[in-house]
Amino acid sequence: MYVNNTKPYHIQKAASLSGEITICHRVTILHRLGMIDKPYGQRIAEGLDIRGLLPNHDVVEVGGGLGELAQSFIPYVRERHDISYTFLDYCPALLRAQVKANSGASAIRGDAQRLSDFVGNTDFVIANEMIGDLMTVDGIETAAKETLMGRLFRWMGRQPTAMTEYVAQAKDKYGLSGDVINLGAIWFIEQMRPVLRQGAFISENDCDCYGVEREASRISLPGHDEYSIKFPHLIKVAESLGFKVEFGNLADFAGIPEMYHIEQDDYNQLRQKMNPGLLAEAIKEKMVPEDIFSLDFDTRICYDLDLAELLMGSRVRRKVSDLREEAKQVGYLVLRV
Ligand SMILES: C[S@@+](CC[C@H](N)C(=O)[O-])C[C@H]1O[C@@H](n2cnc3c(N)ncnc32)[C@H](O)[C@@H]1O
Repeated sequence: MYVNNTKPYHIQKAASLSGEITICHRVTILHRLGMIDKPYGQRIAEGLDIRGLLPNHDVVEVGGGLGELAQSFIPYVRERHDISYTFLDYCPALLRAQVKANSGASAIRGDAQRLSDFVGNTDFVIANEMIGDLMTVDGIETAAKETLMGRLFRWMGRQPTAMTEYVAQAKDKYGLSGDVINLGAIWFIEQMRPVLRQGAFISENDCDCYGVEREASRISLPGHDEYSIKFPHLIKVAESLGFKVEFGNLADFAGIPEMYHIEQDDYNQLRQKMNPGLLAEAIKEKMVPEDIFSLDFDTRICYDLDLAELLMGSRVRRKVSDLREEAKQVGYLVLRV
């Protein structure tokens, strides 16, 4: 049995999202470059507004990264309601970045898996592309079957460790099956039940957001591993706790348009082959910002496909990917109390 715990990695992390480029981060960059009309947080706020779920008093955002979602979420909501906004994160550097980007917001350093220890009653919780960081337990059935101790404990009707006991309890209580259990995400949803007054918005990439259950798989990221999220499990948990649940893909919820972007490595290679005349023309036509080469390419630079083709020829089509297509692989859950 293997317990994936990303906490040590996240606590030491610097205030950057390197290696974990979320749809929120990409939309933020595109919006700053003037290539997409609405910023990400506004898209989420509008999605909640049309569902009658805009918070009235207070919001807790868990795992807010660089605070980019809040930068446009808060102004949208404040035009309608006088809300307070609190960030909960256990990475000190990111927590500082979140408050710096959103003056007036408060910060709590804490673990989402113990949410109710840190947060009292609140209207709404937002957790955007963060539950993949929570604890996942892998190989629970295999472990119990394969080890002699496991077999003995099974025979005795007991589980060998506290962790397997937690997993067994969750599986029993919510009727979950499979060898991989996103235990941290389940705890997070359980912890929301006593504190939520209105609801929650949760999104996560690499999940089975189309409702067909598949086994969660391990994903290698720089410095740590994550597991994909089994949405059907989370839906069962949330419904058992009495939440009304809506799920779907982020592309539809947030109205992400077709946008084409290019990975940094591919960009660097292609950049060497660029036709300088065409680039100058593109800058003159304001198809790209004048300071294009001084932008921070640690975050990915995003391009319109036409521009990429203009600059680099049709071969580039293989190298660009569509932001909308990617956002379709990101699932969301809206929980209503
Ligand atoms: C992948 S980033 C997502 C950032 C941002 N929400 C976005 O969509 O761009 C994950 C965030 O969750 C935080 N985080 C991870 N595990 C956490 C936990 N157990 N409790 C609180 N925050 C956590 C990280 O420090 C980071 O801010």
